[in-house]
Amino acid sequence: MNAIDPPVTAQAQALAARYGTELTSRQLPWNDVIASLLNHRSVRGYVSDPVPPGTLEILVAAAQSAATSSNLQTWSVMEVTDPEKRKMLAEVASGQQHIIECPLFLVFVADLSRNARLGEAEGTTLEVLPYLDAFLVSSIDAAMAAQNAVIAAESLGLSTVYIGALRNNVTRVAELLELPSGAGAVFGLCVGYPKPESAGEVKPRLPQEVVLHRDRYSTAAEAAGRAAYDKRLEAFSRRNEMAAYTWTQRVIGRMAKLNALTGRDRMKAAFRALGFPLR
Ligand SMILES: Cc1cc2nc3c(=O)[nH]c(=O)nc-3n(C[C@H](O)[C@H](O)[C@H](O)COP(=O)(O)O)c2cc1C
Repeated sequence: MNAIDPPVTAQAQALAARYGTELTSRQLPWNDVIASLLNHRSVRGYVSDPVPPGTLEILVAAAQSAATSSNLQTWSVMEVTDPEKRKMLAEVASGQQHIIECPLFLVFVADLSRNARLGEAEGTTLEVLPYLDAFLVSSIDAAMAAQNAVIAAESLGLSTVYIGALRNNVTRVAELLELPSGAGAVFGLCVGYPKPESAGEVKPRLPQEVVLHRDRYSTAAEAAGRAAYDKRLEAFSRRNEMAAYTWTQRVIGRMAKLNALTGRDRMKAAFRALGFPLR
């Protein structure tokens, strides 16, 4: 597809799905990669069909192709095939059944242990390892890698959903996956083909002017943008048979009370015990 001459209707449809109609009167750059990115949606119901042979290896190659802070490569990924382990991971994640049913389940790990082993083998203390920045670097590395895998999977016609709820109990996940000290799961990822009823539609996002700031941070567009988005997300929720939440209700529901963290309020202590001192 030619970036100079985008198919206006495909672009307009994709932008309308993501935002409503505000951006669609202008012609923007466009190609298959961007079309695929704008078409992203999380899927929470999978048929049992396996992913094609070689899918895992090419997703990991895509993941390893992501940028990585200072080329330190402080992340790992685990494929979980054992049905018992899947079941226990689903329990950690408040019973999310797609962890059990998806044909490919991955756990992305913030992993400083490999670099720690390198230090030990070389007889060198890696003084930065205990610091919060090293934990952030490894978590960011894992997220960038995973998102590359998601983009690759979607480009192959597969669907995905991240499973942040593994962090409900990072201690249990580390036990199940036999992680060494200095390695901790930051999220899982289901990959597979959607059940027809689970394919879903693109979930709208906040208007661009709410998240895009130029030279100085501005909240000028926020109130009107949030009100407009509340309406759009409520309609989306109703169409997709969820409780008809506005974004405002969703944020308050997820952030107003600590019990919404489902155990993650104890995560700092848990990660410390897993070998991330977070100094
Ligand atoms: C780090 C991360 C963790 C997530 N964890 C979960 C999860 O545990 N369960 C779930 O159903 N969705 C999870 N999601 C998916 C989000 O709910 C979803 O991306 C968001 O609602 C936007 O919807 P969309 O991906 O369909 O556009 C997670 C997403 C991210 C980025």
